[in-house]
Amino acid sequence: MSGKFSMERFFFSTLLLALFLCLLSFTEAAPKHALITHLPGFNGTLPSKHYSGYVTIDEKHGKNLFYYFVISERKPSADPVVLWLNGGPAKPGCSSFDGFVYEHGPFNFQAAKTRGSLPQLHLNPYSWSKVSNIIYLDSPAGVGLSYSKNPDDYKTGDIKTASDTHTFLLKKWFEQYPEFLSNPFYISGESYGGVYVPTLASEVVKGIDVGLKPVLNFKGYMVGNGVTDYIFDGNALVPFAHGMGLISDDMFQDANTTCQGNFWAPVNPACRESLDKVAEIITCLNMFDILEPCYHRPEERKIETGDIRLPSSFRKLGETDRPLPVRKRMLGHAWPRRAPVRDGIVPTWQQLLNRENVSCTGDEVATSWLNNDAVRKAIHSRQGNLTWELCTEKILYHHELRSMIPYHKNLTARGYRALIYSGDHDMSVPFTGTQAWTRSLGYKILDEWRPWFSNDLVAGFTQGYDHNLTFLTIKGAGHTVPEYKPREALAFYSRWLAGENI
Ligand SMILES: *[C@@H]1O[C@H](CO)[C@@H](O)[C@H](O)[C@H]1NC(C)=O
Ligand SMILES: *[C@@H]1O[C@H](CO)[C@@H](O)[C@H](O)[C@H]1NC(C)=O
Ligand SMILES: *[C@@H]1O[C@H](CO)[C@@H](O)[C@H](O)[C@H]1NC(C)=O
Ligand SMILES: *[C@@H]1O[C@H](CO)[C@@H](O)[C@H](O)[C@H]1NC(C)=O
Ligand SMILES: *[C@@H]1O[C@H](CO)[C@@H](O)[C@H](O)[C@H]1NC(C)=O
Ligand SMILES: *[C@@H]1O[C@H](CO)[C@@H](O)[C@H](O)[C@H]1NC(C)=O
Repeated sequence: MSGKFSMERFFFSTLLLALFLCLLSFTEAAPKHALITHLPGFNGTLPSKHYSGYVTIDEKHGKNLFYYFVISERKPSADPVVLWLNGGPAKPGCSSFDGFVYEHGPFNFQAAKTRGSLPQLHLNPYSWSKVSNIIYLDSPAGVGLSYSKNPDDYKTGDIKTASDTHTFLLKKWFEQYPEFLSNPFYISGESYGGVYVPTLASEVVKGIDVGLKPVLNFKGYMVGNGVTDYIFDGNALVPFAHGMGLISDDMFQDANTTCQGNFWAPVNPACRESLDKVAEIITCLNMFDILEPCYHRPEERKIETGDIRLPSSFRKLGETDRPLPVRKRMLGHAWPRRAPVRDGIVPTWQQLLNRENVSCTGDEVATSWLNNDAVRKAIHSRQGNLTWELCTEKILYHHELRSMIPYHKNLTARGYRALIYSGDHDMSVPFTGTQAWTRSLGYKILDEWRPWFSNDLVAGFTQGYDHNLTFLTIKGAGHTVPEYKPREALAFYSRWLAGENI
């Protein structure tokens, strides 16, 4: 009797212990010191756990990359882990907090009414954390809250950035969050992330091939309005401007004839002249969304206080159903000449614009929140001597890899899934180039060009290719898709991650 009893007790306690260890392995492995317990500006209860802090990727140099990790609000143990990398807008050097604050993060930020007070944070109903565990990473060192004690590290480029990010994932991040190693893992990004994503993905795959531990459960990648190939991207603007009705048929014919169909590098003086004319015509538009206003000084103040000379139909263009207004767009020039990324040193926005702010992009809410001491403390960021900027001029970035097309070819040929999407009103990396390069891979079309729907409305168009390559447009969205079309963005994101037809 007593033997049976103690036997039962033994089994029972073993079971309990196993259960306990099992729970422990999922809920408790994440580093406690990284857990966010409160966030200045936010009064409510977080719908899921948030973690943030630094990962030191080079002890000798003191090179530290900052991440903010939002656990899925659905099923953390099964939902994919997605790494998000903002590159630009359109150039390297911009912080992934752009995605966190303005695009698909867990909060909508409401600007403070009085100067110097904190923005108010409200829950974002279209946060990508509804369906995924998502890591926002500031990369390379020098960008956002990431830094190095050795300033030499700020001289960097495509290859170094990919290998540093790989080190971040492999050696350090998954070491601290081992319970997420078995989740499907995806790499995603936007803009100059069009370079970061396939180069990192390629490093990850090489790592898997040679048996590096831990083994990442890498499934695929996603690129939005991504810089890809200087010929395709460079050729994209003129047909875009023509198709969108920004330049006349005559101007298009003229450019096409003089440039012999190649717009990425002027072949003769007549071609250069035609391209200059095109650039001049579109120069005052908002390059990140041709429908949206880009206010030019000194008109800025007038418009801020409600310039009723603008027809309301115009003011409403580009509006979204986001619960809070998108950021004001009022800074600088719209279209820096020769903006497409070429190989060699890529000037940062500040270098390009002579220290002016990034074109047509407001950053006030993010800047005031991320430079607040209490916020910095709450998110475990370095505090002294580090000012958060949307885009930095600290780094000297070398674009070494002319084209991402060979990377896409290799990755898709290996069976990794790829979603290549474009906000179709972006003029900085126009969809015309992205559509052309995805088609140029020559894969069989399995899902012919068709509309896709969100909320029973056409949300854009898509073409699906063999090798799990999908090209998708988001109708009416600009460069940073989820900022303009948050609901539609969550729709395609969750469907694609789930492997469903979009
Ligand atoms: C949060 O609390 C503060 C202080 O009580 C208040 O001023 C603010 O309006 C609240 N914000 C929200 C979004 O409820
Ligand atoms: C543009 O020029 C190319 C090469 O000269 C030619 O093949 C093409 O038909 C032209 N396109 C249009 C729309 O005129
Ligand atoms: C950049 O933007 C800030 C507001 O975020 C403004 O105070 C500053 O004057 C701007 N600088 C330039 C050169 O336009
Ligand atoms: C900040 O910079 C100053 C001077 O450059 C230096 O003496 C100090 O140690 C730095 N503080 C931190 C926290 O890095
Ligand atoms: C693509 O794969 C081929 C064959 O394995 C390899 O030689 C080439 O270097 C790869 N290219 C890239 C960009 O990864
Ligand atoms: C497409 O992706 C699915 C799911 O990952 C995979 O099973 C399939 O083999 C892939 N197809 C191709 C052609 O690579």
